[in-house]
Amino acid sequence: MRRLEGRVALVTGAGRGQGRAHALALAEEGASIVVCDVPGVIPSVRYPLSTAEDLAETARQLEAAGTTCLALAADIRSRSDMERVAAEAIAAFGRVDVVVANAAVCGFSPFEELSDQQWDDMIGTNLTGTFHTVQAVAGHMKHRGYGRIIVTSSMSGRSGNQNLAHYSASKFGVIGMVKSVALELAASGVTANVVCPSTTSTPMIHNDEWYGIFRPDLEHPTRDDVEPTFAELNPLGVPWLPPEAVARAVVYLAADEGFTTGSVLEVGLGLSAFKP
Ligand SMILES: NC(=O)c1ccc[n+]([C@@H]2O[C@H](COP(=O)([O-])OP(=O)(O)OC[C@H]3O[C@@H](n4cnc5c(N)ncnc54)[C@H](O)[C@@H]3O)[C@@H](O)[C@H]2O)c1
Repeated sequence: MRRLEGRVALVTGAGRGQGRAHALALAEEGASIVVCDVPGVIPSVRYPLSTAEDLAETARQLEAAGTTCLALAADIRSRSDMERVAAEAIAAFGRVDVVVANAAVCGFSPFEELSDQQWDDMIGTNLTGTFHTVQAVAGHMKHRGYGRIIVTSSMSGRSGNQNLAHYSASKFGVIGMVKSVALELAASGVTANVVCPSTTSTPMIHNDEWYGIFRPDLEHPTRDDVEPTFAELNPLGVPWLPPEAVARAVVYLAADEGFTTGSVLEVGLGLSAFKP
C-alpha cells in the first residue's frame, strides 16, 4: 500500500533539483502535489535559479506519473506569496498535510568580505523564506490536528564551513526554528523535522562558482575536474548524493506515524560520524 494515499503535499523550490525529486517521490507514495518556485531576482546569487519552464517541467513529470498537481510561481521571501500558495492549495485540494520547505540559495564569500547584500539575500531567502513557508500552513495543520513539516537544512547547518558563514547561519537557523515549532505543535498531531543533506548533485553545485571554489588551480574547471575533489570531502568517497537519496528521507518523515518530531535526519555521506 502506498504510504501517502489521499495526502496533499506542498513542496517549495520544486522547479528542479531536490525539490522536484521530493515532489515525484511523494507523488509515487500517493500524495497529490502542490509545487512552487520561480523567485524574483536575488541580487547576490551568482547562478541561475529556476524558470517558469522548469516548474512546468516538474508539473509535466508529475502529471505523466498520474499525479494531480498544482504548480504556482511564488517567491518564499514574500509572505503574501506564501499565503497565496497555501490558500490556493487548500482551495484546490481541501487541505495541506505535508509541507517540504526546500527552496534556498547558496553562495560563497570570505567572512571579512561578506556584504550586507549577500547576508540579507541569504537570510531573507533561506531563513525568513522558510519561516514564511512553514507559518503559511502551520495554523491550518494545527486546526486540522494533522501535519508533517519537513525543512531542508544542510550538513552546513551542523558545522561551520569556510566561505559559507551566511549560508551556514541560515541553515543552523532553520534547525532552531523547526525544533521550537515541534515543541509548540507537539500536542496537535503536527510533527516538524529537518533533513540535512550533504553535497547533492543539483544545479546548486553544478555551476561555475562552485567549480571555481573547489578547483581554483584551473581557469575553467568542469564537472569531471571537480568530481575527485568532492569525493575527498566525505568518508564514503563519493562526490555527491543523488537527489533521490534525500527524497527517501523526506518521504520517511512525511509518512511517519507521528512519534518523531524535533529531529534532524542527516543524509551525510558519513560526515555524521564526526559529530556528537
Ligand atoms: N545541492 C547541495 O549540495 C545541497 C546540500 C545541502 C543542502 N542543500 C539544500 O537543499 C535544498 C534544495 O537545493 P538543491 O540542491 O535542489 O538546489 P537547486 O538550486 O537546484 O534548487 C533550489 C530551488 O529553490 C528555488 N528557490 C531559490 N530561492 C527561492 C525563492 N526565494 N523563492 C522560491 N524558490 C526559490 C530555486 O529556483 C531552485 O529551483 C536547499 O535548501 C539547499 O540549501 C543543498
